[in-house]
Amino acid sequence: MGIIINKEREKISTMFNNIAGSYDLLNHLLSFGIDKRWRKKLVGRVLLKNPKTVLDIACGTGDLTLALFKKGIDVTGLDIAEKMMDVAKDKFARHISKTKEKTQPEPSFVCASAESIPFKDSTFDAVTIGFGIRNFENRGESLLEISRVLKRGGTLAILEFATPKNHLWKWLFNLYFMKILPFIGKIISKDSHAYNYLPQSVSTFPQYEEFASELEHFGFKDIDYIPLTGGVAILYIAQKS
Ligand SMILES: C[S@@+](CC[C@H](N)C(=O)[O-])C[C@H]1O[C@@H](n2cnc3c(N)ncnc32)[C@H](O)[C@@H]1O
Repeated sequence: MGIIINKEREKISTMFNNIAGSYDLLNHLLSFGIDKRWRKKLVGRVLLKNPKTVLDIACGTGDLTLALFKKGIDVTGLDIAEKMMDVAKDKFARHISKTKEKTQPEPSFVCASAESIPFKDSTFDAVTIGFGIRNFENRGESLLEISRVLKRGGTLAILEFATPKNHLWKWLFNLYFMKILPFIGKIISKDSHAYNYLPQSVSTFPQYEEFASELEHFGFKDIDYIPLTGGVAILYIAQKS
C-alpha cells in the first residue's frame, strides 16, 4: 500500500512553526549548503524575464525571498506558518539595516495559504515556490490561485525535491534521505515527526513529466524542468497561458 500522509493545513503549519528555530541550520547542514546554489539557479531563471513584482509562496524563513530582494525585485512572502515568517522578518531587518541604499520597497509578508491568495487577479510578474508545493493541502486549488494572481505570460518557478534516476546515486541518496537525515533532523530540531515527513512527502510527489502535465492541466505553458545535483531536486519553470 502507498504512503498516506496528512497534509491538513493546520497540521502542516504547526509542524513548520515547531521547527522554525532550527530550520535554517538544518537546511544548510543537511543539504551541505547546496540548497543555496539551487535557489540561485531559480533566481537566475526568473530574472531572465525581468520581473518587477514577485510573490514567493511558502516563503518560510525567507531565503528565497531575500535572494530575490537582493536583485532589486519588489517581493512579497506568503506562508501559513507565522513563526517561519518571523525568522524571515528578522533576516530582512538585519539585511536592510546593513545596506545603505533604501530606495527599494521593503518586502511584505502575508500569513495566508496558497489555496486562497489574498491578492487581486493579475498582480504579479512571477510566482516562486521553494520546497513548498509538495506540502500544499490542495495542489490543484493552489495552482488555479497562482494562475489567477499572475499576469498573462507571467513566470511560475518551482523548486522541489525529487528522486534521482541513476540507480547508484538513487541508492546512496535514499540511504541518506530516508535514514541519516531523519536521524540528524530529529536530534537537532527535537521534532520526531518533521524529518520523517520530509522523505515521505517527496516520495509521494509527482516528478518530471508527470508534474509538468499537471502544470499544463492547470493553465501553464512552455514548461521546462531542470534536474539539479543529479536529480535530487528539480527546477520547474512555466509561463501562464
Ligand atoms: C520546506 S519549507 C520551504 C521554505 C522556503 N521556501 C525555503 O526554500 O527554504 C515549506 C514551507 O511551506 C509552507 N506551506 C505549507 N503548506 C502551505 C500552503 N498551503 N500555503 C502556503 N504555505 C505553505 C510551510 O509553512 C513552510 O514554511
